[in-house]
Amino acid sequence: MSLDALKIAALTEGRYHIKTVAQTDSTNNQLRQEAIEGAPEGTALFAAHQTAGRGRMGRSFFSPEGSGLYFSVLLRPQGVASGMKITAAAGVAVAEAVRDVLGLELSIKWVNDLYYKNRKVCGILAESATDGQGGFAWCVLGIGLNVFAPEGGFGELSSIAGALLDQRQEGILERLAAAILDRFFAWYDKLEEPSLMEAYRSRSFLQGRTVTACRGEQRLRGTVAGIDEDGALLLQIGEDLIPLQSGEVQLEDYR
Ligand code: BTN
Repeated sequence: MSLDALKIAALTEGRYHIKTVAQTDSTNNQLRQEAIEGAPEGTALFAAHQTAGRGRMGRSFFSPEGSGLYFSVLLRPQGVASGMKITAAAGVAVAEAVRDVLGLELSIKWVNDLYYKNRKVCGILAESATDGQGGFAWCVLGIGLNVFAPEGGFGELSSIAGALLDQRQEGILERLAAAILDRFFAWYDKLEEPSLMEAYRSRSFLQGRTVTACRGEQRLRGTVAGIDEDGALLLQIGEDLIPLQSGEVQLEDYR
């Protein structure tokens, strides 16, 4: 069963090019191909199920049939846009949409994981190609949101992954999809405004926590002092304040 593309298009008043499929390997893979073939900005591809959903750092993303939103959005940013800001906008957009549609508050773990009740419920994977002049030819923004608990549970992921709702509800996936698209594109027009990083920081739960971060071969242990205006995580290690532009951190006092 695929999502109802017409319902999402109606809820978003035709602002985007909505496509839905019952199954694909990865919406990022499929949309990347469409990007190369010239699909326009605002094309959004949703799959009810991914057979090879991908996460960051070469990991897989569990995408069972009808349990979540697995989708990718095609962007063609003009000028020099920051990939970090685009993914920050996506994280904030998902949190805002979940609050507006379901009344639930999500928090953000840098760089772009969203948590609900101590479980990861959403991951974001942006992939892009450059235009050779310092800009983007295209950027495929992939979002995976676990909305309903999968029928067989999360299996070996159950200590880490969670879902927003225990029971399936008719029409929720389409409403969330529409709200995420609208919230995302509202922020996409304001990537350089300080309010974006303020909204991001207000949901970040790493402040003051002790973390371990990987930077290349290096493992860095420190206290999170904040997130700067470009989205870098500021790690306090003794007297030094180290900005991390990318990567992942592990919390010491957290599962
Ligand atoms: C992560 O948590 O590491 C990122 C997960 C991103 C998953 C989404 S689901 C839709 C899109 N297609 C993919 O293959 N991955 C992204």
